[in-house]
Amino acid sequence: MTVDLLSPAKSQPGARLVPVAPFSIVIFGGTGDLALRKILPALFHRWCDGQVPETSRIIAVSRSDISTDDYLEMVRARLVETSTDDASVKARFAEFAGLVRYHAGDVLADGFDWDALSREIGPDEQNIRLFYLALPPGLFGPVCDRLKSAGLNTARARIVLEKPIGEDLASAKAINDAVGAAFEERAIFRIDHYLGKETVQNLLVLRFANSLFEPMWNSQGVDHVQITVAETVGAGDRTSYYDGAGALRDMVQNHLLQLLCLVAMEPPRNLEADAVRDEKLKVLGALRPIGQDDVSSLTVRGQYGAGAMNGEAVPGYADEIGRASRTETFVAVKAFIDNWRWANTPFYLRTGKRMPERHSEIVVQFHPVPHQVVKSDSGRARPNRLVIRLQPDEGVKLLLTTKDPGPGGMRLRYVPLNLSFADTFGARYPDAYERLLMAVVRDDLSLFMRRDEVEAAWRWIDTVVEAWESEETELYRY
Ligand code: BG6
Repeated sequence: MTVDLLSPAKSQPGARLVPVAPFSIVIFGGTGDLALRKILPALFHRWCDGQVPETSRIIAVSRSDISTDDYLEMVRARLVETSTDDASVKARFAEFAGLVRYHAGDVLADGFDWDALSREIGPDEQNIRLFYLALPPGLFGPVCDRLKSAGLNTARARIVLEKPIGEDLASAKAINDAVGAAFEERAIFRIDHYLGKETVQNLLVLRFANSLFEPMWNSQGVDHVQITVAETVGAGDRTSYYDGAGALRDMVQNHLLQLLCLVAMEPPRNLEADAVRDEKLKVLGALRPIGQDDVSSLTVRGQYGAGAMNGEAVPGYADEIGRASRTETFVAVKAFIDNWRWANTPFYLRTGKRMPERHSEIVVQFHPVPHQVVKSDSGRARPNRLVIRLQPDEGVKLLLTTKDPGPGGMRLRYVPLNLSFADTFGARYPDAYERLLMAVVRDDLSLFMRRDEVEAAWRWIDTVVEAWESEETELYRY
């Protein structure tokens, strides 16, 4: 069964659309890639599904001197590009367009017309206001400062920040301080879009709504955990950002560590934001720092060279950025969590661009049986594995050793109990940005990172970066 993941979600049997209150969202960086590729399509799809109230307003702000009509044409073109269902885009876009305004100007310039922007947002301070900073992190503090001076940090205003929050602990703290000077922590929504993915949410359900796994969910039961995010894309047109970041900062500091937290954390008392975030923080705090002595045995860095993908030639990373670079596009880290539950259980974190296939999954591998009772004619009992497939083909598999049916002796086979979301639940469900934007409107912080989490993650990442710098570790080509 194939599932169209780009066209608007169709209501599932039994699915419940939780309505949200009317809101105004201001997207700074409105003509940027993130806004056009993710934020506007997410709002459009939620609108098509009837979740966005008609009195809501979407205001895009950017320096480009264009009209609202020009802007809407850009949005429409991107929707058509990414949606397989052109007809539904055509049918609903005109109505959606009625919600959207474009506001040209440089928010950091003295002449920026804050009054005009306030009028677009609407006068009622009780209305929910979202300020989405789809901007480089260096601008988060200054823009928040301007919002405060313009009196827009009202009681029901929320600020949405995209990763990366800084490039190390010190810069993350400075950004958090600057944003915190204008908005209270309860109004700050730090997006890690992996937390909005369906299967990532399902991880909590799998762990805490089933009793099957918990007794073995520790170092006595689990041999190791693998968290892999493999992408086929290269650094693309974001090379200026990417070259300063690399795979460790771009992916591990946020997405992979968040996944690790959800796998490793203790059961929270409930799923309220702080209950979950407190438990994640404990995991981050227990990560064993990686030092100069073990950096070569616990980490691997790589950079893609020129090659072919699906029969087409693709340039190497250095060719793409036009010079030699030591930035890693692949990283693998063997991490340990120094606490009672996970003592000496390796967590293998791996991510890379230009991998042969796109696939993200979490594999929890259990210990092998202590003694081979079954003497087989072929095959052997293999350790059980729980595979949580994040994308594509979302689903959960439990790999078991079974007997090959029929006569012919005892032959063992390793086969999956396979829960494919597409086959079981059918039509598409909202993508991560759709879910996260609606969560901001509903004031649900549970899918967003708290300040201390971000900083704890940087604290550990900094140990790896420092060790790499002091050791000049090898950068492998692939
Ligand atoms: C972003 C990274 O946060 O996540 C990108 O900056 C990466 O480099 C992307 O490509 C991957 O997201 P997804 O949802 O496609 O797995």
